[in-house]
Amino acid sequence: MDHFLYRDGTLYAEDVPVAEIAAAVGTPFYVYSTATLIRHFTLFDEALDFADHLVCFAMKSASNQAIIKVLANAGAGMDVVSGGEYLRAKAAGVPGDKIVFSGVGKTADEMRMTLEGGIRQFNVESEPEMVVLDQVAQSLGVVAPITVRVNPDVDAKTHAKIATGKSENKFGIPISRAREVYAMAAKMPGLKVIGIDVHIGSQLTDLAPFEAAYRKVAELTEQLRADGHEIKRLDLGGGLGIPYARSNEAPPLPTDYGALIQRTVGHLGCEIEIEPGRLISGNAGLMVSKVIYVKSGEDRDFLILDSAMNDLIRPAMYEAWHDIVPVIEPAPGAAPAKYDIVGPVCESGDTFAKGREMPAVGPDDLVAFRSAGAYGAVMSSEYNSRPLIPEVLVDGDQFAVIRARPTYEEMIARDTVPVWLD
Ligand code: LLP
Repeated sequence: MDHFLYRDGTLYAEDVPVAEIAAAVGTPFYVYSTATLIRHFTLFDEALDFADHLVCFAMKSASNQAIIKVLANAGAGMDVVSGGEYLRAKAAGVPGDKIVFSGVGKTADEMRMTLEGGIRQFNVESEPEMVVLDQVAQSLGVVAPITVRVNPDVDAKTHAKIATGKSENKFGIPISRAREVYAMAAKMPGLKVIGIDVHIGSQLTDLAPFEAAYRKVAELTEQLRADGHEIKRLDLGGGLGIPYARSNEAPPLPTDYGALIQRTVGHLGCEIEIEPGRLISGNAGLMVSKVIYVKSGEDRDFLILDSAMNDLIRPAMYEAWHDIVPVIEPAPGAAPAKYDIVGPVCESGDTFAKGREMPAVGPDDLVAFRSAGAYGAVMSSEYNSRPLIPEVLVDGDQFAVIRARPTYEEMIARDTVPVWLD
C-alpha cells in the first residue's frame, strides 16, 4: 500500500498534486511519501513484537538525510555498508548503537571510524576481515561486537544479480565452516561474538527460501551455544519483495514474514534484527518524468521521456518492471496505447519498457514510475552529463526539496583541469 493515489482525476503524493511539485521543481524528480515510509517501517516493527528487536533500515536502498530522519524518528536503526553510509546515518542523528555495519569489503579505515563513532555490531563476512577488525579494535583499545554472516547455500529464487545466499556468491562464510570460524573469533581479544547474521538476497517474493535459511540459522545457534558461544542476537537480513507489477503480484506481507521468523527462530530467545530496504522505501517513492516526444517507428511507437537510465537504472540493469502511469488519470474505458518507453541516453539499453500498454499520452504530459523509492536515486549517475535529479519529500499537504538538482555550473566545477593543460 502507498499514498500515491488519483484524486479528482490527477495523481497525488499524499495531499499534494504531483503536477504541482513538477511545476515547482521541474522534471524529472523523485518524490517520497513520509506516511508510506512510516507505515512500512511500522509493519515490520509490529511484526517482530514477539521479541526484543530492532528494524535496521538498509540505507543502500535510499539514503537521503530526510528519509533517514523520518525512519530514525519512527524508531528505526540503520544497516550501513560503507563509511559514507555510516556518516550519513550519524549526520541524520542516528546513534552508533543503532547502526549495524554490513558488507564484504570493509576497510581498516572504515572500521576505525565506526569503532570510534560508536557501532552496534559488525556483520563480519570473512576470516581476513575478522583478522583486520581484531587488529584495529586492539589498536584502539576497544572490543568490536560481531556477528558472522553465514552463507546458508539457499537459492533465493530472485534475479541472479541480487541473489546472495548461494555458495557461489561472494557473501558470508559457508555455514558448514561456521563453527570453525566462530572458534577462531572467540580467540581474538579485539572481538566479542554476540550473534549470527544471514541475508540471502533481495526482492524475494516467496517465504520458502527465508524459511530454509532461518531453520539453518536456528540449528547453528544451538550448535554454537553448545560450543560455548554467547549467541544473543540474530540478524536475519533484508530481502522481502514488493509488488512491482500491481496488477498481478502479491508478495507476502511483513506480518507473514514476522510470523515466519517467530516460527523458525522465536524459541531461541534471541534479540531479532532485520535489515529491510526495498519494502520500506520502494513503494514510498515515484520517479516523475515528462514526455519529450512520441516518435513513430516502423513497427512501434517510442515514448521518449526526459528521464533516462542514469536516473533509474533498474530496468536496464535487472530487466526490472516498473508500473508507469500518467499523472492525469485516464478516462474510464480509454483505449490503451502501446509504447517502447525510452530515455534520451545514447544507447539502446536506455529502455524502461518494451511494448508497454498504457493510456495514450503526448508531449509535455507527466508520467510517474511507481515503486521507484528503493535503488532509484541512490543508483543514479550523471552519465551523458545529465544532472542528478532532485528528490522531494511530501508529508501531508506540505512538500520540500530534500536534494536539489545541481546546476550545470556546479556539475562542471567538480572537475579540475591540471595546470599543464592551461
Ligand atoms: N542487508 C544486506 C546485507 C543486503 O545486501 C541488502 C541488499 C539488504 C539488507 C536490503 O535488501 P532489501 O530489503 O532492500 O531487498 N540494486 C538492487 C538491489 C540490491 C540489493 C543489495 N542488498 C535492485 O535495484 O533491485
